[in-house]
Amino acid sequence: MVGTIRESAQLLPQRAPAMTIGTRATVPSPAPAAEPPIDVDIPDPIVEIRDFDLWYGDFQALEGVSLRIPRNQITALIGPSGCGKSTLLRSINRMNDLIPFVRVRGEIAVDGRNIYEPGVDPVEVRRVIGMVFQKPNPFPKSIHQNVAFGARINGYRGDIDELVERALRQAALWDEVSQKLSDSGLALSGGQQQRLCIARAIAVSPDIVLMDEPCSALDPIATQRIEDLMRELAEDYTIVIVTHNMQQAARVSDRTAFMLAGDDRTGRLVEYGPTEQIFSTPRDERTEAYITGRFG
Ligand SMILES: Nc1ncnc2c1ncn2[C@@H]1O[C@H](COP(=O)(O)OP(=O)(O)O)[C@@H](O)[C@H]1O
Ligand SMILES: [Mg+2]
Repeated sequence: MVGTIRESAQLLPQRAPAMTIGTRATVPSPAPAAEPPIDVDIPDPIVEIRDFDLWYGDFQALEGVSLRIPRNQITALIGPSGCGKSTLLRSINRMNDLIPFVRVRGEIAVDGRNIYEPGVDPVEVRRVIGMVFQKPNPFPKSIHQNVAFGARINGYRGDIDELVERALRQAALWDEVSQKLSDSGLALSGGQQQRLCIARAIAVSPDIVLMDEPCSALDPIATQRIEDLMRELAEDYTIVIVTHNMQQAARVSDRTAFMLAGDDRTGRLVEYGPTEQIFSTPRDERTEAYITGRFG
């Protein structure tokens, strides 16, 4: 592994817990001292991000991000391109370890355990926290092999056909593919490929599924199917979705986090709350400017 995650929170001096929100945001505003993100109503978060910083080499991409993600809900990360949404998402399952020269500081606790502390196996983290990417990326293998892949690697001892069927049903794809499980996953339409990738992700029974703009390569009908599917999956899984489509965030998510990069290009969390509140009565004027389409 090329990752150079060197620091963990324990090794570093304590910092003040307060979050600083840059006054140099790209939006012209007097930037009033924003209240810290309100998340006291999430007493038992499945993920708790505490004062998290991330650097790519010398460039600081994230600063002081603190966020509690509730169980079995859909949390959306929104914000203009380049504000660090994908970086933050990849930090939640240590996918950033695969990128050279990445350093982090702070903590991300999953079910109470800091996944950046020494001794944590990133492969196990990624089993518990699956990921679905922007561009559907089925393996050049059969539909069946795609879904069975992770289970096989993990030495699954149960009935693999049953597992494949269950995952495909959960991903709302079974009816369309049950007669052609040995066809290549690449022969499916874009929307079907994305549901196949979701089936592959949930076949290993993760607790959390991270989705990075999962619909941006899809047409409106395929997008709608994935959005419906996300609502169903949220009964069993915690979903964190990055989307640049604000209507999508408003439609599917329970909570929304708005991020913004300042002139220094460093991404920070500006506001976080119930989706309804963020889109109706944002507390920060930068959030309001963004959701009303004044920039981004
Ligand atoms: N692998 C990388 N190496 C160096 N810089 C990166 C890398 N990935 C992203 N960045 C930079 O980090 C910032 C945040 O990027 P990203 O997380 O992709 O933003 P978003 O998903 O919100 O568009 C950007 O300035 C981007 O150029
Ligand atoms: Mg991105």
